[in-house]
Amino acid sequence: MDQEALKRQAAQAALEYVDGGLIGIGTGSTVNYFIDLLAGIKHKIDGTVSSSEASTQRLRGHGIQVLDLNSTGNLSVYIDGADESNHQLQLIKGGGGALTREKIIAAASKTFVCIADNSKLVKALGSFPLPVEVIPMARSLVARQLLKLGGTPVWREGVVTDNGNHILDVHKLNITHPLELEQTINNMPGVVTVGLFALRPADILILGTPTGVKILRD
Ligand code: A5P
Repeated sequence: MDQEALKRQAAQAALEYVDGGLIGIGTGSTVNYFIDLLAGIKHKIDGTVSSSEASTQRLRGHGIQVLDLNSTGNLSVYIDGADESNHQLQLIKGGGGALTREKIIAAASKTFVCIADNSKLVKALGSFPLPVEVIPMARSLVARQLLKLGGTPVWREGVVTDNGNHILDVHKLNITHPLELEQTINNMPGVVTVGLFALRPADILILGTPTGVKILRD
């Protein structure tokens, strides 16, 4: 089974967690499969809140309503992918650059269901470079502080986030204490969001595997 089939399998299994109400929608290729499947049951939901312009366009293309989080209150469920997950369902996210809106939606949602192919499950986070969204004028300042933490920050040149900011991808970070590291990086002036989701991990991880869907719970 190829990786795309595994992503689709996880997306299909996530439909079971959609029980009406308002759905938070993440960003990425796995979520794209979910959006396409959600189109088949769009009459069952009240609407969605999207984490990126790309997902918004895809949702609207299917005739699925996209609402402003300021007008909805909290969401029942949030479906999103990840770049890495450990067994505590703490995640690295932001490979697609949508980390800030993703973190906002995760915080606003009762249940966070993460969907991925099984290559995303790791023993320890950090092989995938950790994305950090920064205010443009603080990019070098934050990069110097990330160096002091032992990482190698690389500016994702040419990329401007949906919020008008820049992204540093931090390589070679030893993420042994995700909770502490998330707070440390969050506290750096100029940092908008770090793509470490440890303070608010996923509640459920649905993995597509060659032998069928595997479900992990926090
Ligand atoms: C988007 O910013 C990321 O957090 C995505 O959730 C992540 O990159 C997963 O994308 P894929 O489903 O394409 O692997």
